[in-house]
Parts: sequence; C-alpha cells; structure tokens
Amino acid sequence: MSVVDDIKDKLDVVAVIGEYISLQKTGRNFKGLCPFHGEKTPSFIVSPERQSWHCFGCGTGGDVFSFVMKKDGLEFGEAVHLLADKAGVALSQSYGDRARDKENQKLYEINEAAAQYYHHVLVNTPGGQVALTYLEQRGINRKTIDDFQLGYSLDSWDALQKYLTGRNISELESVGLVVKKENGAFDMFRGRIMFPIRNRRGNVLGFGGRALSNDGPKYLNSPQTKIFNKSNIIYGIDRSHASIRQQDMVVVVEGYMDVLTAHQYGVSNVVAFMGTAVTQNQVDTLSRIASNIILALDSDAAGDEATLRGIEVCRQALEHSKSKRPSKAGAGSSVQMDIRVVTLPSGKDPDEIIREDVELWKKAVDESLPVVEYLFKVVAAEYDLSKTKERSAAAQRLIPIINDMSDNIQREIYIKKLGELLGVSETTLTVMASSARSAKANARPKQQAPKAKGDKLEEHCLCLLLSNPYLYDKCGELSGQYFSHIDNRYIYEVWRDNPETFTEDIDGSVQDHLESLLSAILPSATASVCEKELAVCVARLKERYDKKQQEEVCERYDEGYIEAAEGAQEVTKVDEELKKGFNQVRKNKGD
Ligand code: UTP
Ligand code: MN
Repeated sequence: MSVVDDIKDKLDVVAVIGEYISLQKTGRNFKGLCPFHGEKTPSFIVSPERQSWHCFGCGTGGDVFSFVMKKDGLEFGEAVHLLADKAGVALSQSYGDRARDKENQKLYEINEAAAQYYHHVLVNTPGGQVALTYLEQRGINRKTIDDFQLGYSLDSWDALQKYLTGRNISELESVGLVVKKENGAFDMFRGRIMFPIRNRRGNVLGFGGRALSNDGPKYLNSPQTKIFNKSNIIYGIDRSHASIRQQDMVVVVEGYMDVLTAHQYGVSNVVAFMGTAVTQNQVDTLSRIASNIILALDSDAAGDEATLRGIEVCRQALEHSKSKRPSKAGAGSSVQMDIRVVTLPSGKDPDEIIREDVELWKKAVDESLPVVEYLFKVVAAEYDLSKTKERSAAAQRLIPIINDMSDNIQREIYIKKLGELLGVSETTLTVMASSARSAKANARPKQQAPKAKGDKLEEHCLCLLLSNPYLYDKCGELSGQYFSHIDNRYIYEVWRDNPETFTEDIDGSVQDHLESLLSAILPSATASVCEKELAVCVARLKERYDKKQQEEVCERYDEGYIEAAEGAQEVTKVDEELKKGFNQVRKNKGD
C-alpha cells in the first residue's frame, strides 16, 4: 500500500474537513458552506462513502489531499506531510511524489535571484550605466525596464557567482547561469542586457542576453535546462496573457525588443517566440487563451520556408481547436480564418514602426491579411504561373487551405479568386477541391463528426485525474494531443498547467462539461489501482492518437487527388458536363 493510501485509510475526510468548516449531515453526505467561494446557502458536499468533496457552487472538488492543499495553500508533498502527521503515518526518507515540482521551484528561485541581481546591477550600479544608457538611447523607459525586470550582466567571469554565494555552483549550472570547465566555473552571461524569460505564472525559466558590442552572437539564450525549453517559450506571456484573453487576440512578433516597445506604447497583447521557428506547443498554449493569432513578419522573412512552416503549424493547430470550441463572439457567428499575417514594410520591425507612430502599427494590424490571402500573395510571387506544372502545384498548395474553410460562401469566393489567379476554370478547381475533400473524408471517415461529449475513454481518464490529484506526477507520458476532443484536451492542459487554480483558469464555455466530469462518480479505488488504470488510459489514448497521425500522413501522401486534378485540367473542354456531374454529386451528398 502506498503512503497516500495508508494516509487515506487512516483519515476520514469528514473529520479533516470538519476541522476547517462546520458540516451538517444530510442523508448519506455532509453539507456546509464552501470555504473557497462566498456563499450563503451551502453547496459544499462531503461524501464519507467516496471520501471526497465537491462544491456545486464553484465547481471545485477532490479528495482529502486536494482539500488541504487548496485550503492551506500547500504543495502536494507538503499536504502529505501534514496529513501523515494527523494520521500517524511515518514517511520514509525518500518520500516525495512532488519532488519534480519542488525541484522546479528551486530552479525558479535561483533564476529569480539572478534576475533581481541583474536588475539591481542595471539600475543601481555604475557598472550598469553603459547598458542603461543604451536602453535609453533605444527609447526604453524606466517603467518598461522595471516591468520586464531588465538587467545587466557585468563583463566579468564570476560576478554572478560571487553575488549568489549562498547557492552552490551545480545549482547555478543546472539553470545554465554558470558553465563549468576544467579550469573552473564562469558566468554564462557577461556584458549583456538581460531579459528574464518567464512562464505565464511569472516563474523565470531562463534568460536572453543581448550583447552591447558586436563581438559574439547578438543574443545568447539560456541553454536547454529542466525548465527552459525553447519549443514552449513565449516571451512576454506573463505580462500579456490577461490582455490577450480579453481581446481574444494575440500578436506574435520576432524579437524581445519588439515586445518591450509594444508594451511601452500600450499594445499589450504582444509576445515573441524564440526566433522564427514556431512550434505546435507554442500555438497550443496561445490558442487556449485566444482564438485569433496575428503573425507579424519582417518583410525579409515573408514567404521563406520557416515562415510558411510556422504559418502551417498555426493553421493546423487553430483549425483543430476552433472547429470545436465555441467562438467568444457568440455561437451563431461563422468562424472565419483565425490566423492573420501582417507583413511589415521592407526593413522595418515592429519596434521601429510602433515608435514611429503607434497608430500606424494598429492600422497595419487591422489590415492584416487572412492567412489564405497572404498565401495567395506568396504563391503568386513564387510560382511561374505561365507553366502548367507550376499552376497545378500552386493549386495544390492553396486548395487544402480553401477546403479547410468552414464557410461555403467563403470557399466559393476563394475558388473563384484562385481561378482568376491561375487562369483555370472554376469548375476544374471545384472538382479538384471536391476530390481532395473526398480523399480526405475517405481517409478518416470516423473523424467527420467528433462527438462533443460522451468519449468514454477520454472522460474516464479525466475523471480519474481530477479526483485523484496525486496522479499529477504520473502524467508525464500523457500529451494533451492524445485527447481528440478539444474540450477534454483543453481541460487536461489547463489542469496540467496548474492543478490548484485550474477551475478558475478555465474558460466559461467548458464549465458545464467540466462540471459533469467533476461530479461523475468513480468507484473508490486504492492509489495503486488508480495508477494502473491511468496507465491503461494513457496507453489507449496514445494508441488512438498514433493511429490518427498515421491516417493523416496517408492522406497527405494520397496522390489520388493530384492525378484527379491533372486529369481535370485536360478536360476543361467538357466543363459543362463536369459541372452537371459535380452538381449531381453535390446534391447526392447533400453538401
Ligand atoms: P532580432 O535580431 O530581430 O532582435 O532577432 P531584436 O529583439 O529585434 O533586437 P534588436 O532590435 O536588434 O536589438 C529576433 C529574435 O531572435 C532571437 C531573439 O529572440 C531575438 O529577440 N535571436 C536573434 C536569438 O535568439 N539569437 C540571436 O543571435 C539573434
Ligand atoms: Mn529589432
């Protein structure tokens, strides 16, 4: 029996919670005023049978552990200590389910101390003057410096180490602030303006350091560490998430400096990725807080492979989420393309434009192009449309994007546009589009109508997790992507982000679904049984996901529709007949 089970066995949830609030017996359960939100009539229920609690007012709930964690603001490990004490259960030395989290906490603290030090050097010491002057010259004001806790690392091999003498070198090394070599350890960042990079909750994950001189790379970033992973870093997210959520829109720029300037000029829904490579991870995070993403691209980056790949990642991630999550604009509004692209005038970056005239920037954002139109421009510039082969390639590039549009009229408009661009009849393109669609539909018939609710496997897995917080640490293998139903995936990811606050963080649109998950009754089981059950769920979800991925690959490589398209091109003479046939097919399909 695990320690957790042992503690649960020896404690009664009613007695423990009864120490905090007064409970009245009602039938099989106990009832009281919820300690987590203000209420006058009790909607807080404790079940001795299930040894769990749930508030129907604020939607929180869990077991005895989650109760004390929430009530006393404890980490899981701390709750175990507290309750073990109450239960008279001895903890083994090695105990620490939340060890990983604890360790992260320690790493955050080291980074935080370093950030404070660098900031102090910048704003209070003569050594920082050179950097302060540089920032002033670039028009960064004192408030921005403080808000983003910008700093300066002295041009010294050991200034940081000397300052943080309370920390041992290995700790500093583990967050990438110090590099160990045979002849000693030296500070990683020297003579650089320091940008602390934080997660949404404000924990410092790592740093970007901008050189003041021209030697060495312009920016040096923290190396990959336990907490710093380039693929999920979003610079500025700590300061912009509220505004992004409120505007339901995020603007992604390329550089740290661009983020600073935007915020300084009151444009606070702006973030940056690390360089140009966009990852699914980053887009997933953003798409959870906003349904509109605007990519601001330097004109020299426009149209290059990395940019297009980035757009494709965004497009797919958003397409996936928006088809299932109700838009905030209201249920009836038809969702159009949610990714837009701003191309900036040649040689200028957001930093310069905003500084020149913030209205100019706002105008550019307002005039951003839906991604499909942006791609039209790129395609028009990149392909030699006088050649049949290239026309066909251009069509193949754009048709899947048009097909993904949920609005029939929009689709028709863009097919028409494409026809004009390529000098190909609409009918031909319609046939191409239609065969591309049916190839897609045949490749994955089951995906046509993902059920909004009732996915037993996903829901079971979530119930298991939500009612057994100690499983948090066992979720390493469980990727959010394994949940095919977006509400489930969203709930899981918000929970994984922060299990303590997730019921508050979660969007109102999934509240009902969450409610039903939280109130689902699972047969009571020991921690080790729950753990096994979770492992089975994860394995099955993964299997399902892998299968789906495979199908998607097949679909992409399905040459069928390319042939169909080429065939169609040759028979443009019999357009009329095709049209008739096509209309018939459409009628039959009820499309
Ligand atoms: P930029 O060169 O556009 O930087 O690179 P910037 O932030 O606008 O800085 P200024 O205006 O020249 O001072 C864009 C982003 O690419 C990453 C950084 O995240 C940077 O903000 N980058 C760039 C690096 O990581 N390393 C580099 O050497 C250069
Ligand atoms: Mn710049």
